[in-house]
Formats: sequence, C-alpha cells, structure tokens
Amino acid sequence: MRRTAVSLVAAAGILMAGTAGAAEDADKAEKMVKYRNSVFTVMAHNIHPLGAMLKGEMPYDPRTFAEKADRIAAVAPMALEGFGMKATADVKGTAAKAKIWDNMGDFKKKMRAMQKAAGALAAVEPGDSPASVKKATKALADTCEDCHDEYKKED
Ligand code: HEC
Repeated sequence: MRRTAVSLVAAAGILMAGTAGAAEDADKAEKMVKYRNSVFTVMAHNIHPLGAMLKGEMPYDPRTFAEKADRIAAVAPMALEGFGMKATADVKGTAAKAKIWDNMGDFKKKMRAMQKAAGALAAVEPGDSPASVKKATKALADTCEDCHDEYKKED
C-alpha cells in the first residue's frame, strides 16, 4: 500500500515534469521568435536611413552612414541564433516558413551572404564614391530580399 502511494507520487512527479518541460519549450520557442524579430527590427531600423540617404530623401552624412552600417554588421551574426529550434515555426504570429529547418544548409548560406555584405558595407570609407556606397548598400538589401523571398511568409 505504502509502496503504491510512493510510486503514484513518483509517477505524478514524472507527469508533471513532462508538462512543465513542454510548457518550458513553448516559452523558449516564443522567446526565440521575439529575439530573432528584435535582431531583424534593429537591422531594418538602421538600413532604412541608408536607403533614404542614397535616394536623397535625407542628407548624406558619411558619419551617420558609417555608424548605422557598423550597427548592422554587429547584429547580423546574431540573427541565426534565433532559428535554433524547429518548434519556433509553430509559434503564433511567426512569419518564418517551416521549410527553413528542412533546408538549414541553404538558410545558413543566405545568413552568411548577409553577414558578408554587412561587413563589406561597414568597410565603406567616407571618401568612397557614391556609386560604390550605393552598390554596397544594394548588395546588402538584396541578401535580405533573397532570404525573405524563400523563407519568410508574405506580410
Ligand atoms: C537567411 C534569412 C534571412 C535574411 C538574410 C534576412 N532575413 Fe529578415 N527575416 C527572415 C525570416 C525567416 C523572418 C521571419 C521571422 C519570424 O517572424 O519569426 C524575417 C523577418 C524580418 C523582419 C520582421 C520582423 C518582425 O518583427 O516581424 C524584418 C523587419 C526583417 N526580417 C528585416 C531584414 C533585413 C533588413 C535584412 C537584411 C539586412 C534581413 N531581414 C535579412 C529571414 C531573413
């Protein structure tokens, strides 16, 4: 009798641990989605003024340009960390397509292309020709689009 009670308690403990584990995973997945979207938000926030400067909608200022390019290059390598769990594809509101996790090699390749382009943009010198600054900015924006076309759901 006593033994049954003990094993029942033990079984209940295991069941509860199982439930807590699932809830913990869901919580982790939700945080991961928030994390990656925060990284993308920081990148988008910093790339927009670069586009505006190049289009003449904002005065071109090499120092502001360099500051924003540096920020993008600093956070670009963080984006991949936000895709560490396939379960994040099931988080409500995510725009990430589940096929990312079936094509992780290609997805990582696209992340690396973005990092490389961000590094090249951050290496632009204030004295560089407007044409080369424009080219480096467009090259980075193309890497965003290239991945979104394949792996991000339409808004
Ligand atoms: C290798 C793939 C990849 C690259 C490269 C990439 N993105 Fe994304 N991006 C995604 C995916 C996937 C999502 C959807 C994430 C989600 O909703 O969980 C996303 C979402 C976003 C969002 C929406 C954030 C939100 O809060 O909903 C913005 C903004 C964004 N990306 C901007 C950028 C910019 C700017 C670049 C380039 C500098 C870039 N992304 C490069 C894959 C990528």
